[in-house]
Amino acid sequence: MSSAIYPGSFDPITNGHFDIICRAAKIFDKVTVAVLTNSSKKPMFTTEEKMEMIKHVTRDLPNVEVDTFSGLLIDYAKQKDCNVVVKGLRAVTDFEYEFQMALMNKKLHNDLETLFLTTNNKYSYLSSSIVKEVFKLNGCVEELVDNYVIEQMKKKL
Ligand code: PNS
Repeated sequence: MSSAIYPGSFDPITNGHFDIICRAAKIFDKVTVAVLTNSSKKPMFTTEEKMEMIKHVTRDLPNVEVDTFSGLLIDYAKQKDCNVVVKGLRAVTDFEYEFQMALMNKKLHNDLETLFLTTNNKYSYLSSSIVKEVFKLNGCVEELVDNYVIEQMKKKL
């Protein structure tokens, strides 16, 4: 059975993330969306809240599971016995950082492959940070995140 890990902060999950999850779920038998818990960023949502939102948004995708990890991604991948990490690539600006992470992960764990899916053009500018900023300033984020996520953001403000 083929499987892949889609790791990230997901604070919160956006439609760009969801697009990558849907496409990865067509390529692999199982996709694990893995929420990083020890992020240095100050998050809007707790790990449990992030996982709950991802579970809600991916509820119609039977081969997608949601999990959490801390520490190195390569250690988590070993623990899951999974050799593929899926990442979404939005723009040239993402490339340098993603390239660096992919190479470092490869150096640490040679069997691990990082598979980049180019983002859907519709979401190429989208990030959790920009969604939160626009939302906090009363801008409309309706086509950028699930309505359920909007409800959860409203509860935070
Ligand atoms: O959504 P993000 O913040 O871009 O996700 C980044 C993430 C979680 C994929 C990355 O920070 C990560 O893998 N962190 C785990 C720690 C680790 O393995 N660091 C070394 C990577 S080179």
